[in-house]
Amino acid sequence: MRKNIVAGNWKMNKTFDEADELVTNLIEQLEEKDLGENTDVIICPPFPYLEMCTDYSNESYFAVGAQNVSDRDQGAFTGEVSADMLASMEVEYCIVGHSERRAYYGETDALIAKKVDQLLKNDIRPIVCCGEVLEEREAGKQFEVVKRQITDGLFHLDAEAFGKIIIAYEPVWAIGTGKTATPEQAQEIHAFIRGLIAEKYGKEVADNTSILYGGSCKPSNAKELFANPDVDGGLIGGASLKAEDFINIALAF
Ligand code: PGA
Repeated sequence: MRKNIVAGNWKMNKTFDEADELVTNLIEQLEEKDLGENTDVIICPPFPYLEMCTDYSNESYFAVGAQNVSDRDQGAFTGEVSADMLASMEVEYCIVGHSERRAYYGETDALIAKKVDQLLKNDIRPIVCCGEVLEEREAGKQFEVVKRQITDGLFHLDAEAFGKIIIAYEPVWAIGTGKTATPEQAQEIHAFIRGLIAEKYGKEVADNTSILYGGSCKPSNAKELFANPDVDGGLIGGASLKAEDFINIALAF
């Protein structure tokens, strides 16, 4: 059966020393608190801190993910980081298609599909983001938008490859705004996404896919969000920058 997952997306925050302190605090929290067998914790720091985090993760209870990856194998692509490089640093997960990358760096579903392929080729599990902007929600287009993102970004995969995918539904109007989707809004879209997967790959694959919610998820609202049958955890931005808040979210299942 699918796992509960809490993944921290640190975005472009923290100096090296601050990142080191956050990881140390996380480990302290994880030693004190029992998350149970079925909850996985992932942290996604900026690229320069990946090695520090994977070094710590060898001894502890979280896995490490990157926040982005190149769609190319290797070569003259200044500033890019390949999936092969990430794999060589024991990075196990990578966020792809975050709305900030779609909005500020022009990432399209076609590019996201290529990044997903690079990651899978290197045994890294993609955490693929989808979600509508406010105008789309107000126009009642959220299902259409999410269907396009999932279909064009992921449905070229065969069932075995799709089994490695983690999905994060993040309504853009809820990211960093303090405005959270209601548990009913989250459940509605998560069930819709699971239905799309079931239609394409069958019920077993759909039942085994973890679908995370993201967008102003915090200790005070995590419990009611995670209580929904199709919400399998969260992709946490702001609240992942404080160890205690992040682990309290992980305790909310
Ligand atoms: P937030 O970010 O929790 O700060 O809203 C979530 C995300 O963008 O992944």
